[in-house]
Amino acid sequence: MKKKTLFVAITTQKGGIGKTSVTVLLSSYLHYLKGYEVAVVDCDYPQYSIFDLRNRETEVVASDEYYSVKAYNQLCKIEKKCYSIVMSSIVDATSKANELAQEENLDIVFFDMPGTLNTDGVLDLLSEMDYIFSPISADRLVVESTLQFLSLFNDNLITTGIAKAKGVNLFWTMVDGREKTSLYDMYNSVINDLGQKIMKTSLPDSKRYRREITFDKKPIFRSTFFPIDSSMLKSSRIPELAEEICSIINLKH
Ligand SMILES: Nc1ncnc2c1ncn2[C@@H]1O[C@H](COP(=O)(O)OP(=O)(O)OP(=O)(O)O)[C@@H](O)[C@H]1O
Ligand SMILES: [Mg+2]
Repeated sequence: MKKKTLFVAITTQKGGIGKTSVTVLLSSYLHYLKGYEVAVVDCDYPQYSIFDLRNRETEVVASDEYYSVKAYNQLCKIEKKCYSIVMSSIVDATSKANELAQEENLDIVFFDMPGTLNTDGVLDLLSEMDYIFSPISADRLVVESTLQFLSLFNDNLITTGIAKAKGVNLFWTMVDGREKTSLYDMYNSVINDLGQKIMKTSLPDSKRYRREITFDKKPIFRSTFFPIDSSMLKSSRIPELAEEICSIINLKH
């Protein structure tokens, strides 16, 4: 039976807050470890960072025996190939996603989109998302930019009834264990006062986010070919984030 494919975006206005990394980590976790069928539509022109990452990884995996064997073993074990990543303009993004959803009987399509709502077509694309998740960090500029994003989203898409999503789900990221919890309490109460909920799971601040497949064969963190290495999975808190997201979007096997 054809299932309903959910359109999900990890997005916000602020640049460099981990939207792309979290999209990759969640996609790989859900696709390779949790048995969901996932695809990614990369419409973050001109960076196309996820599409680029897949290309860089493809070169390494094709030319390095260690990674080709690893990819082959994974294929035999889970009996599925790596997920599709397509590059798209903003305007074509939903039709490309619908095509993929038909062909691959997908559970989720993740969209990586430009950070600014001013780019033509971004608001229309956001209105097509079933769910939107936004990383936020405890930095005044980030919090201000997030609040601005939320109010633009509300004014343009919620009050007008255009958005499919009921709202934006915020989660803390780049959380440094040494930061005062009072800082988070303060921001949480500001955000709650605005009627917004923050998710339970937060992601740690970790240099591992930069770790991609390289010829040095260190354990893999951010990859479109493989899930996070088991040695780092628990501390990454990606399993908790994925579980919380699956429960919000009501995704079941
Ligand atoms: N939780 C984290 N802890 C530490 N570094 C992180 C974390 N998440 C992301 N980073 C790092 O922050 C940088 C930006 O991440 P990423 O490209 O995923 O963000 P982005 O929001 O997609 O950026 P852009 O706005 O450019 O698209 C990268 O160098 C990444 O490794
Ligand atoms: Mg990005």
